[in-house]
Parts: sequence; structure tokens; C-alpha cells
Amino acid sequence: MDIHLISHLVVFVMSEIGTYYALDFGGTNFRVLRVQLGGRRSSILSQDVEQRPIPQHLMTSTSEDLFDFIASTLKQFVEKEENGSEPSSVRTRELGLTFSFPVRQLSIHSGILIKWTKGFAIEDMVGKEVVGLLEAALVRSGLDMRAAVLVNDAVGTLALGHYDDADTVAAVIIGTGTNACYLERADAIIKCQGHLITSGCMAVNMEWGNFWSSHLPRTSYDIDLDLESPNPNDQGFEKMISGIYLGDIVRRVILRMSQESDIFGPVSSRLSVPFILQAPLLAAMHEDDSPELKEVDKILKETLEISEVSLKVRKLVVRICDVVTRRAARLAAAGIAGNLEEDWTGWKWRYMMFREYLHEALNEILGEDVAQHVILKVTEDGSGIGGALLAAANSSSGVDNVQ
Ligand code: GLC
Repeated sequence: MDIHLISHLVVFVMSEIGTYYALDFGGTNFRVLRVQLGGRRSSILSQDVEQRPIPQHLMTSTSEDLFDFIASTLKQFVEKEENGSEPSSVRTRELGLTFSFPVRQLSIHSGILIKWTKGFAIEDMVGKEVVGLLEAALVRSGLDMRAAVLVNDAVGTLALGHYDDADTVAAVIIGTGTNACYLERADAIIKCQGHLITSGCMAVNMEWGNFWSSHLPRTSYDIDLDLESPNPNDQGFEKMISGIYLGDIVRRVILRMSQESDIFGPVSSRLSVPFILQAPLLAAMHEDDSPELKEVDKILKETLEISEVSLKVRKLVVRICDVVTRRAARLAAAGIAGNLEEDWTGWKWRYMMFREYLHEALNEILGEDVAQHVILKVTEDGSGIGGALLAAANSSSGVDNVQ
């Protein structure tokens, strides 16, 4: 696991005033945000968010194509948001870049992409400095904006959690990918020793999606998924937990059952399409509480083109979703329990069954007495808003605002 250090910022970010932008990039969608800060803890005056899917071809294209697309979307957003309001020519607009991939952090506003995860594969970008690439695209697009910080989504989520509640000490991301980050005393971090920063707190980005142990309960479905992925032998923990992969594990189980029995009727060719069963579909089937399992019926027929969808078959599919999701939630809970010292917070995912199983497993692993002190809070848009907060804390004009 690599340790990424975000110096002192989280503790300062509570008194900034002004408008800050954020770009949240790290999965199937990216978000641009504009946040107005009121000058004390937990005082976000307004926030505007726009979400766009990343076109599939850009995930494997060139860094220039990707950043030109991002910069032009950002420019449209800024122009729309600033339409009619005072031109911000007084100072360059400042942006927090939340970039949710493994990065070797060089400074608070620069870092080198170590490798891609979550299905991205833009070869020319590996080993390159991320903020430089974004800023070059911003210049090409004619948008006057600089990136004041480069952060990971777990770090952004922790920043927002801490801004809302000073007792927040960690954040977990369970989304397209999975990761966790926690606050640590700088003098307790080996990488800090010998450097200038030896006091205060640092955010430690664990990159736990890449955790690996031969004790992980890996099945033949996990092994096949890994081998057929763009990054085999990598991100083993993530491939058993996060949204981009869970639906595909379920698809593989249904495919095998369909090939080895006639329970689903003739084998549908759709079952061989990788990632056809995305996380929202998985959640919709799992949480279908209609007596006839109508949602399951619809998805099996329309998405997977399965011909045999009797109630017995629908119930079987819900059971498969349950087993795969419960295992994922239990692994995430083990990750939290294994790193637990104090209160954890700030994870995101609107999948209720996942949350329920996460709580269940925490109770089981820690015992109810300890688990009741672990407060898990769901954070909306934490990665992006947290990026804007950290941009404010590291703003070229922000120093004046720190009280
Ligand atoms: C992947 C990325 C990590 C990110 C996580 C959640 O694991 O490597 O940086 O935080 O996904 O988005």
C-alpha cells in the first residue's frame, strides 16, 4: 500500500470564504461542482453540481483527448454558472481536482499517476503529472483556472466529513471502486520522518482496493473476472467489493448455472457480455420487494434476455445477488474493523442492503459494545465538495481567511 500525504489541510479547512470549483474524476461519471463557503465549519452556502458520463472510448484513448473533453465540460459549466454574475477576473478561479486513481503525491497540487484502475487504460498518462495535463487542457480551452489541490476521493470525503464534524477521522469509498483514508499524527508516519512536516495531522490514503491476501475467500468467478480484466493480478480486494465488479460476478454465476443446467432455459448470449449487469441493476433486483419480483423479471428479460423467468428462477437470482453483496459488505467491514481506532465515517453508496450487511458484519466482528461507537455516516458528493474545500484551504488567497 502506498501512503499519500496531504499536509495539514484538513485541520485548516473551516474558515474559508468564497467560491471554489471542483472536478471529481474517478469512475464512470465525472462531476463538476461550484461551492460557496460561508467562513466557518459546516457552512456551505450553496453548491451546484453537474454530472456527465465519461464516454466509453475516452477511457482507453489519449490523455489529451480525455482532458480536452473534461476542460470543455468544465468551461461550459463555469460559463453557465457565472452567467449574469460578476466576472471573476479579479483573481484566477481555483479548482480542487479529485482524481481517484493511485497517484504518487509530489505536493498538495501535483502528483504522478502510478497506474489505472476501474477499467481505465490510457497508456500515455501513466507516469505523468496529472495537474500539468489538466492545466494544459484548461489553457487550450481558454479557461482561466488553476488547480489548487490534487486529492483522492477518499481524502476529499474525509475533508468534507471533518468539515461537518470535527470528530470524523476516516472515510471509506464504496462506489465504482473502493478505498479508505484516515487521519494520522504526522509524527507517527514513517514517510514523514526526515521531512519538514512532523506536527499536526495527515490524511493517509490507504489504496485498500489493492489489498491482497491468500486468505481472501476467492472463488473461480473472482479468478476468471480478474484474468479477463484490463489489470489482472491487481486490485484484488476491490474486485470482490466495488460497484463496477459486483454485477459482473453475479452475471458469471448465472452464466455458469445456465450452462450447467436448464433452469434458465437456453443459454442467453447476453450472459457472455462483460459488465452488462451494472451495479444499479444488481441493487434493483436485490431490493425488489414486490411479491412477484417484477423488477427482477424485467431485468432478466430485457437486459439479460433470459427466457425462463419463473418465480422460482427470480428468487434464485435474488439469492445470488444477496450472497455476492453480503460477501462484499463483510469484506469492507473487515477492512474497517482491521484499521479501526476511533470513529469512522464518510462512505458512499445508495445500496441499502449493502449498508445493512456492513453494519451486521461490523457488529459480528467487533461485538455490539464496540460497534456502537463506530458511527458510519453517508456522505453525498463528499469527494467533489471535499476537493473544493481543500482547494479553498490551499487557495492562493485563502491564507488571509484562515482565522
Ligand atoms: C480505486 C482507486 C482509488 C480510489 C477508489 C475509489 O481503488 O485506485 O484511488 O480511491 O478506486 O474510487
